[in-house]
Amino acid sequence: MSARFLLSLLGLSLLWGSLQALNCFKCDLFNASGICKSGESFCETQGSQSCFLRKVYEGYRLLYGYQGCGDLCIPMSLIGRDARVDFSCCTDTSFCNRL
Ligand SMILES: *[C@@H]1O[C@H](CO)[C@@H](O)[C@H](O)[C@H]1NC(C)=O
Repeated sequence: MSARFLLSLLGLSLLWGSLQALNCFKCDLFNASGICKSGESFCETQGSQSCFLRKVYEGYRLLYGYQGCGDLCIPMSLIGRDARVDFSCCTDTSFCNRL
């Protein structure tokens, strides 16, 4: 086997590693106590997806939120007059989007 072949094999396996699916917590709606009320399950990321966690606050009080796998990964906080939406996402480990 040539070194070039071995190198491309290494490259492929690195690429494969970065594309490997993550498992994430999935919940369509959790309430203010962080209890999932609907759609509790797990999901597996595909391609470049990541795990996300979105929380909606009124003042400092958590109102509700949701979790899942998604394509959109723009960590941000949207701050309204009396509500705040925190969006975070992660790709480091499986179930990194825990509450
Ligand atoms: C969230 O749901 C749980 C289970 O139904 C309930 O016991 C708890 O009181 C709820 N929390 C709020 C803040 O509504």
